[in-house]
Amino acid sequence: MPFQLQPLEKSFGVVVSDIDLRALDDPSFESLYGAWLEHALLIIPEQHLSNAEQTAFARRFGELVKGLEAVEISNVLPDGRLREAPGDDMMKIIRGNMHWHQDSTYMPVQAKGAVFSAKVVPASQGDTAFADMRHAWQALDEERRTRCAELSAYHSLVASQKRLGEETKQEDSEYFGYGLDVEGVPLRPLRKLHPETGTESLAIGRHAFAISGLTTQASQSFVDDLLNFAVSDPHRVYQHRWRVGDVVVWDNRCLLHRSCEWDFSEPRVMLHSRIAGDPATEGALLSQRQLD
Ligand SMILES: [Fe+2]
Repeated sequence: MPFQLQPLEKSFGVVVSDIDLRALDDPSFESLYGAWLEHALLIIPEQHLSNAEQTAFARRFGELVKGLEAVEISNVLPDGRLREAPGDDMMKIIRGNMHWHQDSTYMPVQAKGAVFSAKVVPASQGDTAFADMRHAWQALDEERRTRCAELSAYHSLVASQKRLGEETKQEDSEYFGYGLDVEGVPLRPLRKLHPETGTESLAIGRHAFAISGLTTQASQSFVDDLLNFAVSDPHRVYQHRWRVGDVVVWDNRCLLHRSCEWDFSEPRVMLHSRIAGDPATEGALLSQRQLD
């Protein structure tokens, strides 16, 4: 193998070294892709990719989500000033994503994964945390696993932001469209089969707000209990402390993630490239449900 792999002392994740992501030939990329499927999270320090270089690297994992090929997620305005919390709509989404989630589960097709890198990091904090839902599925007791295998959850960004009191403006918002104008509400089984490895995982997260067939109250406590359980074991949770130039690639089909708190008076600029899911395997079940 043309690079080094050092697995984390966790149920998932691997640090990749002696590698330049700009100069990977096809066989090397195939090896890296295999490591990604096995470990679900690649951590690749000291890459310092430009936006174009990151887009090109991410594209090797699959089609990218339109408009999210290389998008900065930051608390810095285009003119360099810091965003004023709490009224800023972008900050509402950033604060929302400090809760465990999988990307785009509220869309008709959820994401396959993401390439994510650090451009500017605060002096401390601002980590990104990940949790292994393959391990969580295996850790469920027999009774709960059997029950989860039969249930599906509705996912909504509108509902998850509302629940946190972080609703964005209806008009003249910087954040509009993506995830907020979904027709019908995607319904997703709690048991997710990985399309490439066949591994089962628990599909849960902040966007799951209701279970099909349960009352609102019963489903909320079911979803909350399940999510708390999913992230309760430190062996399946890893928190990455960023250094400028780090790149991570996560598999959104079996990991949860969240960004961690930092002092908003310090800039944090991350570059996100979202890899599109396969509609055949990451597509939601048909749903006629509308939000109330
Ligand atoms: Fe995310």
